[in-house]
Amino acid sequence: MCGIIGIISNKEVTSRIVNSLRKLEYRGYDSAGIATLVRGNINEVKCEGRVDALEKDINKFNLKGEIGIGHVRWATHGKPSKINAHPHSSEEVSVVHNGIIENSTILKKFLEKKGYVFKSQTDTEVIAHLVTEYLKKNSLKETIIKVLKKLHGSFALGIIFKGQNDFIVGARRGSPLAVGYGPNENYLGSDSYALKSMTNKISYLDDGDFCIIGKDQVQFFDNKGVKKNNKVFNLSKEDLNYEKGDYKYFMEKEIEEQPSTINDCINEYIDKHSNKINIFNFPWKVNNFKSIVLVGCGTAFHSCLVAKYWLEQNTSLDISVDIASEFRYRKIRFKKDSLYIFVSQSGETADTYAALDLCKQNKMKTCAIVNVIESSIARDADMVLPIYCGQEIGVASTKAFLGQMLVLYILCTKISFDQKYINKKVYQSKIKNLLSLSNSTKKTLKLDQKLLDIGKVFANSKGSMFLGRGYSYPIALEGALKLKELAYVHAEGYPAGEMKHGPLALIEEGMPVVVLAPRDEHYKKTISNMQEVIARGAKVLLITNKNKDEVISENIWEKIEVDQLDQELIPFLITIPLQKLAFYSALEKGFDIDKPRNLAKSVTVE
Ligand code: G6P
Repeated sequence: MCGIIGIISNKEVTSRIVNSLRKLEYRGYDSAGIATLVRGNINEVKCEGRVDALEKDINKFNLKGEIGIGHVRWATHGKPSKINAHPHSSEEVSVVHNGIIENSTILKKFLEKKGYVFKSQTDTEVIAHLVTEYLKKNSLKETIIKVLKKLHGSFALGIIFKGQNDFIVGARRGSPLAVGYGPNENYLGSDSYALKSMTNKISYLDDGDFCIIGKDQVQFFDNKGVKKNNKVFNLSKEDLNYEKGDYKYFMEKEIEEQPSTINDCINEYIDKHSNKINIFNFPWKVNNFKSIVLVGCGTAFHSCLVAKYWLEQNTSLDISVDIASEFRYRKIRFKKDSLYIFVSQSGETADTYAALDLCKQNKMKTCAIVNVIESSIARDADMVLPIYCGQEIGVASTKAFLGQMLVLYILCTKISFDQKYINKKVYQSKIKNLLSLSNSTKKTLKLDQKLLDIGKVFANSKGSMFLGRGYSYPIALEGALKLKELAYVHAEGYPAGEMKHGPLALIEEGMPVVVLAPRDEHYKKTISNMQEVIARGAKVLLITNKNKDEVISENIWEKIEVDQLDQELIPFLITIPLQKLAFYSALEKGFDIDKPRNLAKSVTVE
């Protein structure tokens, strides 16, 4: 997704803008650009493709400057190209933009009538010309207030002005924007991660606000131009040096890290001396609510689906799960006795944020489960439960998924005990089981010898299916999503029992099918469903867990057996072979594993 960086200094800024853009590469993008002021004039360099290509062009044109803005673009209006790459400049200003201007067509017509000529197909270019137009008769502040009022949609903006070496303007509505503070210089960034290599002192713009950033001071204003004081946060530096190490891909590293990220998370939430869950900041009594609504997108949505099974099994609450992009437009009947939980790795996903915002407007109780604790969702929810899995760079989420499930399971166990739905003995045995999870994940990671070859078959297939019942059904969805994202192979996740109602027609000779059949209450039924697909020619990869009884079924193509663990924790283990399956399938195809085509890590547009 798009990323913004701006630096104002009394030292050269170009190379630092490029380095910061590299930090934003993980978000996924298709073109990049930079604009600086050279002797007061705007100079831009843009290119399609990667930041490396941008750097080459910057060196070729010897672009320098002590004030500048940079951008990585993920195309929304207009195809990925050099012309459509940001910044977009007029004679007077240069603009970088994240988000979408919904009324750009109307604004473009208005500006064309005034004689402005458009070079790109983007919605962003209207902002450059609109600012130029208003500047003719207004002060800087008046211009910004008027322009922001004219824009419909979501945006985070960085703007520099011809002849004005003293400031950069930042503004936001919907999309996040951060300001960083340095020695005799200050910064603008679409997320704090882009700024972390330069500073750990950060402020965030509130929705609808703008700021004027000078070398020595930053002024914040609301949408009417009234001055504000924004809080300065000191960020942790632990993620600063997150690198690939001995791994070729971040995704590979992130999969392998799971035993330790699980351990870290458990250490945060479980007091091993008293065998109790530490969620001290839980601001409500469990009897205060009768239902829980879980909301997320993509992989985060799948973790919510798993949690629905846990919560229904272990509490008396009504549980519902929603995809954020649907939730925000439904006619929800908000209930005072509901708890709304928002799950998001990045904490910046536009749809999830909008769903949270809707709940806040309706004065609901909100809880965020996020990885990035400085994120918008974390800042705006009533309470935050971090997943403590460290930075995740691979666009396809892996360790964050296990982290989200883990925090949801811990929360479920706490609620279950507080509600007296389970007694102390059961509560403590659940905690004891959790303490062995990391070790079982470690063992599961070693089961990958076969998966390299199995991955080749999935990669070269026309399509595949992932089947499961109960907790394994959302894991089947997640397995299919991973394969789609990484190997660009059509994959469907399905409840195993639903196959006979349609999808069975898709099964043909040699089609690879994953069957998730852990030894739980659904085991026998899932094995029957597996036999139905085998009988129709499917090549079945069975993922189950160790048991003294052999699986009774003929013609299983491949079998992977994870540890025997408490049934409720099996989703963690059976996910791992699916992550590796997708990884090896993408490897076979030679695709960009950490940055799959068309996708972005942090989706800050609707
Ligand atoms: C994008 C990512 C997915 C992620 C989803 C939700 O689509 O590619 O990996 O699951 O966004 O992201 P979030 O940051 O809200 O968990």
